[in-house]
Amino acid sequence: MYYFLGVFLILLGHVLAQNKQINRVNVTVYYESLCPYARNFTINQLYPILQGNLSHYVNLELIPYGKANRTSDINSDVSFNCQHGPIECYGNLIQGCSRDLIDYGSNTDDLGFNKNHLDFVECFMKNVTSHSTRTQAEEAVVRCSKPKVISASRLKTCANNTFGIQHLIHYGKITDSFQKPLEHVPTIVFNGVYNEEESDGAQEDFLAELCSKIIEPKPKECDSAKILQRKSSKSSVNSFHTISQFLIWYTLVLMFYLST
Ligand SMILES: *[C@@H]1O[C@H](CO)[C@@H](O)[C@H](O)[C@H]1NC(C)=O
Ligand SMILES: *[C@@H]1O[C@H](CO)[C@@H](O)[C@H](O)[C@H]1NC(C)=O
Ligand SMILES: *[C@@H]1O[C@H](CO)[C@@H](O)[C@H](O)[C@H]1NC(C)=O
Ligand SMILES: *[C@@H]1O[C@H](CO)[C@@H](O)[C@H](O)[C@H]1NC(C)=O
Ligand SMILES: *[C@@H]1O[C@H](CO)[C@@H](O)[C@H](O)[C@H]1NC(C)=O
Ligand SMILES: *[C@@H]1O[C@H](CO)[C@@H](O)[C@H](O)[C@H]1NC(C)=O
Repeated sequence: MYYFLGVFLILLGHVLAQNKQINRVNVTVYYESLCPYARNFTINQLYPILQGNLSHYVNLELIPYGKANRTSDINSDVSFNCQHGPIECYGNLIQGCSRDLIDYGSNTDDLGFNKNHLDFVECFMKNVTSHSTRTQAEEAVVRCSKPKVISASRLKTCANNTFGIQHLIHYGKITDSFQKPLEHVPTIVFNGVYNEEESDGAQEDFLAELCSKIIEPKPKECDSAKILQRKSSKSSVNSFHTISQFLIWYTLVLMFYLST
């Protein structure tokens, strides 16, 4: 009888743990700092949507490299070549530095990304366009860095030394191994599986695309999201999940009766 009770408790713990944990959607954004579409996406969709409760449903990875290329992987003589020119390379360096230096690159508590980094990126994108000068870009670094989070001078120094360059090479390698050269900026990937239709869909309506990936129960923020009519392999995973939960409950109840 103690044996059954033990199994009962273990299974109960398992079910409770499964119900408590939110399954986050992995979202990877490949972008470059001055691309108008990436800026529009970040400013008008990604950033505002992640201000609310939906932020708890996402693991976000921002990869600032885009269509750039480089002449060498040795930082002493590397030179980056960016689609919108040298200011874009500077913006990529600065955003890579922001990602890696703010809170030592760790996520904000309870979130699957760093909120301070996302704040910085959004502010920089608002302030720096493909018409900006280097001086204006440097002014934006000052305007967008909050002293309590990171100083502008640390970011600027990083963008001008080995640390920043090495990290941008790293983002370059990640991008190259995904697609070389990157075809669309931004490219938005869900759960590590690239689907062009989803990436384009996310640019148009990130809320709808994200909510379609969130496993039930969905947060109420998804109530207003457009329902996407797209064939998805996820539904079979969902029903498998439900069936396995049902089986666990069933076993539990059975064991409880047997043990008493
Ligand atoms: C920005 O994106 C929205 C969709 O979120 C789109 O309706 C709008 O036309 C875009 N603006 C520009 C300037 O591309
Ligand atoms: C966020 O979600 C929690 C429960 O998940 C809810 O109590 C709260 O009202 C929500 N907040 C907003 C701003 O929707
Ligand atoms: C490197 O990138 C620049 C800017 O996107 C592009 O014009 C150039 O063709 C690229 N060179 C190579 C070798 O891919
Ligand atoms: C530049 O960033 C600041 C700080 O976020 C913001 O208040 C301001 O509106 C931005 N400027 C532009 C032109 O968007
Ligand atoms: C770093 O700063 C020096 C001096 O201002 C400048 O000549 C050099 O081009 C900068 N290097 C990079 C990678 O920005
Ligand atoms: C999301 O990414 C994490 C870490 O890479 C991984 O363990 C997890 O399985 C991914 N989730 C999905 C749904 O792909």
